[in-house]
Amino acid sequence: MRVLRAITCSSMLLLSGVSHAAESVEVVHWWTSGGEAAALQVLKKDLEAKGIGWTDVPIAGGGGTEAMTILRARVTSGNPPTAVQMIGFDILDWAKEGALSNLDQVAAKEGWDKVIPGALQKFSKYEGHWIAAPVNVHSTNWVWINKEALDKAGGKEPTNWDELVALLDKFRAQGISPVAHGGQPWQDATMFEAVVLSLGTDFYKQAFIDLDPAALGGDKMKEAFDRMTKLRSYVDDNFSGRDWNLASAMVIENKAGLQFMGDWAKGEFLRANKVPGKDFVCMRFPGTQGAVTFNSDQFAMFKVSDSKVPAQLAMASAVENPTFQAAFNVVKGSVPARTDVPDTDFDACGKKGIKDLSEASANGRLFGSMAHGHANPAAVKNAIYDVVTRQFNGELSSEDAAAELVTAVAAAK
Ligand code: BGC
Repeated sequence: MRVLRAITCSSMLLLSGVSHAAESVEVVHWWTSGGEAAALQVLKKDLEAKGIGWTDVPIAGGGGTEAMTILRARVTSGNPPTAVQMIGFDILDWAKEGALSNLDQVAAKEGWDKVIPGALQKFSKYEGHWIAAPVNVHSTNWVWINKEALDKAGGKEPTNWDELVALLDKFRAQGISPVAHGGQPWQDATMFEAVVLSLGTDFYKQAFIDLDPAALGGDKMKEAFDRMTKLRSYVDDNFSGRDWNLASAMVIENKAGLQFMGDWAKGEFLRANKVPGKDFVCMRFPGTQGAVTFNSDQFAMFKVSDSKVPAQLAMASAVENPTFQAAFNVVKGSVPARTDVPDTDFDACGKKGIKDLSEASANGRLFGSMAHGHANPAAVKNAIYDVVTRQFNGELSSEDAAAELVTAVAAAK
């Protein structure tokens, strides 16, 4: 009888998707910077309040490259974690391998289909089944500017390439590093995709979504690489290998003029008690207004023992809760993964992020981020990273880089 009651009880938990005491999740993630850790804390606390314990497995490395390598090793050795932060095509790759749990039960009960935008569902569902719970939407074509430096330079936000270059020259004249950058492949690629987008949304789509060899290897791509060479001239000598949050700190501490980075950078500014519009300015990369390159952090649940399923479903449910979505994303710098969360609690940059996302989506100007795994599977992404980084470091001319993009992408497809 007691056994029967236990079984009935656990199936009720399964059905309700809510867990109480003694459940726990082991969570692999790469949220290790100050701003990221503060956002993670919101999630951890939320789950704790619901009686779900948390075993933390942080794997440092922006963009998640290192986390994905370690995850692969763990799964291969038969030790998958319960929940993993994942982005874009990586989620679909794991689903294809049959490694992920099915979240349909909780998704149906909570009506996720109606409130999570189609652009995200493309990565949260596999063969019609929910396999991940999106926690946010980030976008990558942002610039984070030190307000004092901008004011000294005349106060005008650059709206095109020439104005951007003029502003960077003025920053140099002020004796600060014009561009705060960390020389890591994913950061180079993040900057590069904004440059490509600024040369046209059609061009971005042809190059990174369609992988059209004519766009990958053509004159416009050469121009994009020329612009990277120009931007490289505004980076300080110690940029190589620098973590993205240390680059953000340079802008925060008045040592650099601006950083090209996704809106997770805002988390660092907020953590340092900086206020948008007063201490820093957020704007879209010049020439990309109206368009958005996005990435969405999702939690994928691995198939582990049945006893973990209630906690996995409870975590997925907690992540999609609208109140949590507002609380978390306000700290993280991202915007909600649901369309029904009001922008009330968000600062000016967050409100802009929400508005830009919905307008870009309505106008066909919303694209998956190449640098953050939302345009192509990892093999193609890494092939592009490699060419972009070698060109940025002066190992390839613009012409050779464009030609190599074509061959590297063809080989990786
Ligand atoms: C993730 C963000 C994270 C950033 C830097 C991106 O790929 O989507 O959540 O803050 O990498 O680590």
